[in-house]
Amino acid sequence: MMFDWFQAINHGIDGSFLEKVREISKLFFKLPADEKKKYLREENDVEGYGNDMVLSENQTLDWTDRLYLTALPQDQQRLQFWPQNPTNFREILDEYSSKIQLVNEVVLKALARSLNLEEDCFLNQYGTTAKMQARFNYYPPCPWPEKVLGVKPHADGSAITVLLQDKEVEGLQLLKDDQWVGVPIVPDALTINVGDQIEIMSNGIFKSPVHRVFVNSKNERMTLAMFCMPQTEKDIGPVDGLITNERPRLYKNVTFTLDFFFKNYQQGGCKSFAVSSSSSVPLTNLKIWKA
Ligand code: OGA
Ligand code: NI
Repeated sequence: MMFDWFQAINHGIDGSFLEKVREISKLFFKLPADEKKKYLREENDVEGYGNDMVLSENQTLDWTDRLYLTALPQDQQRLQFWPQNPTNFREILDEYSSKIQLVNEVVLKALARSLNLEEDCFLNQYGTTAKMQARFNYYPPCPWPEKVLGVKPHADGSAITVLLQDKEVEGLQLLKDDQWVGVPIVPDALTINVGDQIEIMSNGIFKSPVHRVFVNSKNERMTLAMFCMPQTEKDIGPVDGLITNERPRLYKNVTFTLDFFFKNYQQGGCKSFAVSSSSSVPLTNLKIWKA
């Protein structure tokens, strides 16, 4: 099966806990504007509450509100951006992040095993202070749904992204053989995709899929993306076992500073140096849901 994108259903996180995570997001976005403004992102910063970051004059803005936070490591949390309201916001996000950290490990090991590599080979590149960014996305109903996107086409700059989708409203699409394909909602599933950093570490065997979000005129939609990645300032590159005579190194070593991460996002990810072939690899331990 193709495996740059999948829905994981026995991830070990209770449906009732996922509900709590959705709830803190909803309670935050429903706060009065003045209250949310306390957490406003500052210019030239990435963290905090706000909308699409403007990096160029002719950029089309995404139809979305976001709250962007460093969730892990805990000592890098910038608590001035963490909502005080709802009061359990921090407790729930902390608990969710540590659960997602475990999911991340399972997935990275499974990816390695599926290539007959030593199972820690990707995780080793994470370093000792792996990073996790949380992005709460709120897409209000849009009066011009055919003219605007919730999120423009992009690939994630993460190693992997774990997305908690809205319970009822679809919107995510992924580019497959030049067609946009909708990602359905599966109850209690986590939608997981590999990002640019795994594309690089796997020397292009796994592809970081291009995806986008459409909006609709009637319903709002909320999601939470957790971007799991190595500690910043750490060099990552293709793992040794995947550089062979038949498959030479396709990527240089890269350091994913947050700045790079964001510019990369606006420019559509590492596609400019990606190869075109794709591969099929089975995941062993996780149950995969597939349309
Ligand atoms: C993202 C993303 C998808 C969604 O935040 O990078 O692709 O459905 N989100 O909100
Ligand atoms: Ni994305």
